[in-house]
Amino acid sequence: MYNDTVLDHFQNPRNTGEIPDADGVGEVGSAECGDIMIMYIKVDDDRLTDVKFRTFGCAAAIASSSIATEMIKGKTLDEALKLTRNDVAGALGGLPERKMHCSNLAPDALKAAIENFRAKSAEKT
Ligand code: FES
Repeated sequence: MYNDTVLDHFQNPRNTGEIPDADGVGEVGSAECGDIMIMYIKVDDDRLTDVKFRTFGCAAAIASSSIATEMIKGKTLDEALKLTRNDVAGALGGLPERKMHCSNLAPDALKAAIENFRAKSAEKT
């Protein structure tokens, strides 16, 4: 059902774990299945210097999370916010139609993490 890229990112996910001193944390759940993703970001000069994730979900969700972190690391926050589920699924070489919702988790968690970072930054000023 899954192609080799999806299987590779599922079996050897990149950037897993937590960042204890993260600048922003975003947690989202999938309305379709209840799976959960938490994304941790470090930000320097408006750029994502580090990204890690924990995903409690299916193979497609874990593979999507893994490849998404590779795609956004080093990007500015505004560039990273342009990431869509189609970008994620496309980078994986496609997902089965009924698994497309799984690729929502990473863009949604990233958005939540950036909102958390921006809210914290606004509090400091
Ligand atoms: Fe829940 Fe894939 S089935 S994220």
